Amino acid sequence: MNNNSPLLSLKNISKNFGAICALEDVSFDIFRGEVVALLGDNGAGKSTLVKIIAGGMAATHGQIFFEGRQVNFNSPAEAKSTGIETVYQDLSLCTNVDVVANFFMGRELVKRVCGIPVLNEREMYSVVEQALQSAGTAIPSLRTNVEHLSGGQRQAIELNRFVHWGGKLVLLDEPFAALGVEQTRRGLAMIRRIAAQGIGIVVITHIMSQAFQVADRMVVMRQGKIAGMVRCTDTSPDEVVRLITGDAV
Ligand SMILES: Nc1ncnc2c1ncn2[C@@H]1O[C@H](COP(=O)(O)OP(=O)(O)O)[C@@H](O)[C@H]1O
Ligand SMILES: [Mg+2]
Repeated sequence: MNNNSPLLSLKNISKNFGAICALEDVSFDIFRGEVVALLGDNGAGKSTLVKIIAGGMAATHGQIFFEGRQVNFNSPAEAKSTGIETVYQDLSLCTNVDVVANFFMGRELVKRVCGIPVLNEREMYSVVEQALQSAGTAIPSLRTNVEHLSGGQRQAIELNRFVHWGGKLVLLDEPFAALGVEQTRRGLAMIRRIAAQGIGIVVITHIMSQAFQVADRMVVMRQGKIAGMVRCTDTSPDEVVRLITGDAV
């Protein structure tokens, strides 16, 4: 597997809901270290596509290749164990436990005291501290229950957890919808830092300026089809709007 081969390849993905054709013949690649913005009007098929990539829904036709191998996920858990995950703000954290517990969630470190397994709290704390520090994420106290943290901090915890546990491709559906200006700025910077570690990132957003700030490429969908794929450095907001709406120049 060489480094220039795609991390993820979608080949002719179609999805029908009864008579509705939500996706038709969608093909594109995502590479390691790349941020791809997925744009399109309401109903264009963005969320459906993301669900299919992350194992939440099966395609009607088409194939998905991940790291060169064809995959057929039957559940989000299967996709996750392969390294593909959707991060939905808030939904995947347990708000009534602290940052450290959330970071481990099912992967707790255990030590034996007099032969009895107990949580290795100190080691867990330092693992989380190190992970967040190296990602440039400041959380005042790792012993704070997540319910007391801001949306931006929760997002940072989820994304850093994903990276720490070997995630390879992360899908973000409107990640900044509930965040303020400063939190969004930090979130965009964090996405770039995560991509720089060789992770592939797909961001659904309808805010064009965010797409231009964070993405390397834009994939524009219209009525279930790919309307265009452009490099951010080779396009303009006007061109992207035309791709989204389908209006002629
Ligand atoms: N579970 C479903 N059942 C029936 N139709 C659906 C379902 N999910 C999505 N659709 C339809 O598929 C199309 C694409 O929807 P969606 O992927 O949510 O678009 P977007 O995220 O771009 O707004 C729309 O016409 C929508 O009504
Ligand atoms: Mg959607």
